[in-house]
Amino acid sequence: MALFICLAVLVCLSAALLQWTNLRFRKKVLPPGTLGWPLFGETAKFLTRGPEFMKARGARYGRFFKSHVFGCPTVVSMDPDVNRYILMNESKGLVPGYPQSMLDIVGNRNIAAVHGSTHKYMRAALFSLINPAMIKDQILSNVDSFVRSHLASWEGTIVDIQKETKEMAFLSMLRQICGTQPDEFIQEIVPEFFNLVLGTLSLPINFPGTNYRCGVQARRNIVRMLRKLMEERRGECPSPSPRPYDMLDDMLRTDDEYKHKLSDEEIIDQIMTLLYSGYETVSTTSMMAVKYLHDNPVALHELRREHMEIRAKKKAEDPVDWNDFKSMKFTRAVIFETLRLATVVNGVLRKTTKDLELNGFEIPKGWRIYVYLREMNYDQCVYPEPLAFNPWRWLEKDGERRSNNLLFGGGTRVCPGKELGIAEISTFLHYFVIKYRWEEIGGAKMRKFPRVSAPNGLHIRVSSYSTPT
Ligand code: HEM
Repeated sequence: MALFICLAVLVCLSAALLQWTNLRFRKKVLPPGTLGWPLFGETAKFLTRGPEFMKARGARYGRFFKSHVFGCPTVVSMDPDVNRYILMNESKGLVPGYPQSMLDIVGNRNIAAVHGSTHKYMRAALFSLINPAMIKDQILSNVDSFVRSHLASWEGTIVDIQKETKEMAFLSMLRQICGTQPDEFIQEIVPEFFNLVLGTLSLPINFPGTNYRCGVQARRNIVRMLRKLMEERRGECPSPSPRPYDMLDDMLRTDDEYKHKLSDEEIIDQIMTLLYSGYETVSTTSMMAVKYLHDNPVALHELRREHMEIRAKKKAEDPVDWNDFKSMKFTRAVIFETLRLATVVNGVLRKTTKDLELNGFEIPKGWRIYVYLREMNYDQCVYPEPLAFNPWRWLEKDGERRSNNLLFGGGTRVCPGKELGIAEISTFLHYFVIKYRWEEIGGAKMRKFPRVSAPNGLHIRVSSYSTPT
């Protein structure tokens, strides 16, 4: 009997121990932090205090904490290793988690809205249009002629470089997509596109007058314009009159050799993706490069020397070609340093598709993860004197390949437009510095968060470089 009781106690103890062990390892806790007010969470603090809010929360809870922003419980990760893990492991249930307003407006077949095999397919189709070979053979000469004509008449004028770089980034991409269009088309699509962008950054409240409603309407109008363009292209029988290459002709190809056939809806969302992804990134970086070069004459001198040397080997009318672009080492360094300091992409968003464990914590299904990249750009162990504009640091060995350089993202979603964006900005800088000198007027106020912008514009007085000032 005593033996039986001992055995029973032993079995009960083992079962309890097993259960306790299971619970201990299975039921992990949520990350530290606070969810703030019901519904609104900590959105207002996040938007108004931005980096300080992040720093304060980080100091209190560590580099991995929970919050509640833009209507969703969100885990903020500021830990470089965890950030890299998240970006590299989409298949473990960490898919993109961009806001509903963005998906509604840019389209639910846009590359950031899809994952798994659909993402692979859409990404391959998109990359076939903007990969380095296409930049070399088709895109660069087109960008060159666009930038040249856009900048032609700046001499002796006052230019709002923020407005100009926005227009340039959009119109240049539009031209790559559907060639030169009549003025009426441009005048109609430009304001629609600007409304579309505003809508993607709003709460999805569908009332008259809200940015969201205007954005949805703008999408509808742009889709109508694109459908008409596609019909016209298809109606060009029996074969189109010869015209320079553009991406739309490629996307509409039906021949057997073409591997990336898409439905009309997919083509439309692919165009929206191209227009949207390359817009603010390229325009803001171009504007901020002008700003940093203005404030750092030694860097400007070095950049101009690089471009003068390239131009000296060419005739005035020769376009920038692939070899020129590849030789622009200092320009590339200026672009990386500008991206680092002005941090155009503060972070990227992911969403959990199941309950999962991350960094030792439980993250419930459906939560957002804000992979906060900004702080990594200011890490003084990696970037000594992190607040100084120092393009030379990118010329050091492995400059661009630093493991914590996530300026263009990482993993399966690493930016497919990286080289195109750099080529566009480099071409702009080429013509800008060889033709012009400039001075800022009015001491522009700059904002760095939540988006980099000059709230009242960034005005510069432009004069010919060859004319002494
Ligand atoms: C200076 C310029 C640019 C910067 C800093 C930049 C940055 C980024 C970053 C950080 C991501 C990762 C987003 C994520 O993980 O969720 C990304 C993705 C993406 N970028 Fe860029 N980008 C730039 C230019 C461009 C251009 C010119 C294009 C195309 C026209 C482009 C198209 C895309 C697309 C389509 C994605 C999504 C890729 C995917 O989900 O697979 N980007 N970019």
